[in-house]
Amino acid sequence: MSDMRPIEQVDPLLAGLIQKEVDRQRSQIHLIASENYISMAMMQASGSVLSNKYSEGYPGRRYYEGCAIIDEVEVLARERAKRLFGAEHANVQVHSGSQANLAAYNAVLEPGDTILGMRLDQGGHLTHGSPVNFSGKLFNFVAYGVDEKTEQIDLDQVRALALEHRPKMIVAGYSAYSQLIDWAAFRRIADEVDAIFLVDAAHIIGLIAGSAHPNPTPHADIVTATTHKALRGPRGGVILSREKFAKQIDKAVFPFAQGGPLNNQIAAKALCFELAGRADFKTYSNQIVRNAKVLAGAMDDEGLRVISGGTENHMFLVDLRSLDPDLTGKEASQFLDDHGVTLNRNAIPFDPRSPFITSGLRLGTPSVTTAGMMQEQMVLLGKLIVEILRKRIDPYSVTLYTDQIRELADAFPAYPEDFAGHA
Ligand SMILES: Cc1ncc(COP(=O)(O)O)c(C=O)c1O
Repeated sequence: MSDMRPIEQVDPLLAGLIQKEVDRQRSQIHLIASENYISMAMMQASGSVLSNKYSEGYPGRRYYEGCAIIDEVEVLARERAKRLFGAEHANVQVHSGSQANLAAYNAVLEPGDTILGMRLDQGGHLTHGSPVNFSGKLFNFVAYGVDEKTEQIDLDQVRALALEHRPKMIVAGYSAYSQLIDWAAFRRIADEVDAIFLVDAAHIIGLIAGSAHPNPTPHADIVTATTHKALRGPRGGVILSREKFAKQIDKAVFPFAQGGPLNNQIAAKALCFELAGRADFKTYSNQIVRNAKVLAGAMDDEGLRVISGGTENHMFLVDLRSLDPDLTGKEASQFLDDHGVTLNRNAIPFDPRSPFITSGLRLGTPSVTTAGMMQEQMVLLGKLIVEILRKRIDPYSVTLYTDQIRELADAFPAYPEDFAGHA
C-alpha cells in the first residue's frame, strides 16, 4: 500500500519549505498581476489520485485502458469551459499558457509563416516572437506597438503592418497592457488580409469569465489562456476555438506538443470553470478591476505616473522616473519586496533601460482582491507604496510605513493562521 502518512512525517524538510512559503504568502502583500491564491477545493482536485492515471488521447479515443472516469472529468471540464466562454470547442489538456500558444500556432501555421504580434517590450509575451523562444525561432514575427503619446495600441499601425506584411495570423492579448482591446477592430483587420485572429487571453481570462472585460470568443478564431491567474484555478492552460479548427488544435496539443494529460489539473480546471460561472465570481472579477483603478489612481495622486493614463483591467504599469529619475524597476521591486510588498519590475513603453533593470513596475490586484481587500485598502496601499519608495534612503521613516503594510497583510491574510499549505 502507498505510504499514507502526511508529508510532515514523510519529508519534514520539504514540508518545512512549504510551510515557509505559506508564511511568506501570508506575511507579504502580493501585487504580481499573474498570481492568485487557490482555495482548498482547488488544492484537493489538483492533488487528487487523478494524477495517477495515464490517458494519452482524448475522451472515447485513448491509448490506455481504465479511462472511463478520466473521460468524464475531461468532458466535464471541456463542456464547462465552452459554456463559460461561449466557445465551440475547448482543449483542456494543454499544460500551460506557453504550451497553448505552441499548439495553437502549429495547429494552423507552417514554420516560417508570418505572425503579427505585440512588441515584447511594450506588453507582448515571450511566446509572441521572442528570439529565445520557440515562437521567434519557428515563425517570422512582425511587431506592432503602442502610440508614443497615448501609450495605447495604435490600430492604424496594426492595420498598416498587416497590409504590408500579409501575416497568416494576428495575435492580440498581452502580459503588460492595461487598456481594453477592441476585438472587433482586430477582427476587421484580420479579415482584410485573410489572417487567422488569435487572442492570447492568458491575463484577462478571469475578467472575461466574470464579465468584467469584453469577451473575445465571438471575434477570434482561437483563444488561448492560462487558468492560474485571475481565473483562480490550477496552473495550466486552455485553448478555445471555432469548431472548424477543433481537430487541428487537438492534434497540435497531443501528439505534437505533449504526451499524457495532467488529469489532476484537468479536474481542477473543471472546478475553476464551474466556480468562475457563479455569481460571486462576477462580483470578484469586477472588484479586481475596481481595486486596480483605485490603486492606480492613489499612486497617480501621489505623483507616480501611471502608463497609458490608468487601467481598465486588473493591472497597470507605473513610470518610476516620475518619482526619481535614478530609481529603477530592479531597485524599487527589490526594496518593496524587502518591505512587505511583492510585485515585479517591468519595461514601460519606450523604456531606455534594459528589460532586466527597467524604469517601471507592474502591479495587479487579483491576489489582494481574493484576500478581501476593497477600495479603502487600495487607497492606503497606493499611498504606502509611494511613500516607501520616496523615503527609501531614510530607514526610520520607512519603518513607519512598513508597520502599516504588515498590519494590512495581517488584516487580510491569504490563508488561515494554522494552514499547512496543502490539501
Ligand atoms: C500573454 C501571456 N501569454 C502566455 C503566457 C504564458 O503562460 P505560462 O506561464 O502558463 O506558460 C503568459 C504568462 O504570463 C502571458 O502573460
